[in-house]
Amino acid sequence: MKVAPSIIAANFAAFQNEIKGIEKAGADLLHLDVMDGVFVPNLTFGPMVVDAINTVTELELDTHLMIINPEKYLKQFIDAGADWISFHCEATKQTDTCLEYIKGRNRKAGLAINPTTPFARIIQYVEQLDYLLIMTVNPGFYGQKFMSDVLTKVKEAKDYINKHELSCLLEVDGGINYANACLINQAGADIIVAGAGVFKQENYSEAIERLRCSKV
Ligand code: DX5
Ligand code: ZN
Repeated sequence: MKVAPSIIAANFAAFQNEIKGIEKAGADLLHLDVMDGVFVPNLTFGPMVVDAINTVTELELDTHLMIINPEKYLKQFIDAGADWISFHCEATKQTDTCLEYIKGRNRKAGLAINPTTPFARIIQYVEQLDYLLIMTVNPGFYGQKFMSDVLTKVKEAKDYINKHELSCLLEVDGGINYANACLINQAGADIIVAGAGVFKQENYSEAIERLRCSKV
């Protein structure tokens, strides 16, 4: 599995070192959690910070928008350097417009769904997606407990993708650590996001290697 460390759990006072450190440690993507204080009860950063991060890393930026009306801001995030960009189906009435815009700009288009949102709610979009981001915590904070019930939805999504021979990747995000990473892998995840599971560990490269579950 690919591992996308989430910068939200890094030491912000040493931001550049943290980014360089995680790149050296073998991260596949850098996950950027953008929160607006409306869609989720927390605030993080916007396109200016994405732009700054983009100047200090070669890693592809996996930008997870937890903001209402993402259609208003897609251009700014893509201009800032977002390579992968996902938004929540619960946050917009313009899912098709958003997906078309992202794809038109030749970026990876992702749709994110909250733990309680059923797969059926977004099934009609899967064919158009580069990736589906399935949340395994209620979005807003790093370091929360993994909701294992959601694994059923990961399997359901994987079965659907396989059955219809689609290219949509599955990214799973929230509460992932050594204890559950392999189960998530078995359920069909292609990419996992880890905040505390990487940045709160002593050795970043060891943490990333273990989370990959490559020996399973
Ligand atoms: C939650 C974010 C996640 C989270 C990951 O709102 O979307 O990306 O920060 O952090 P951990 O792995 O610590 O749950
Ligand atoms: Zn995220």
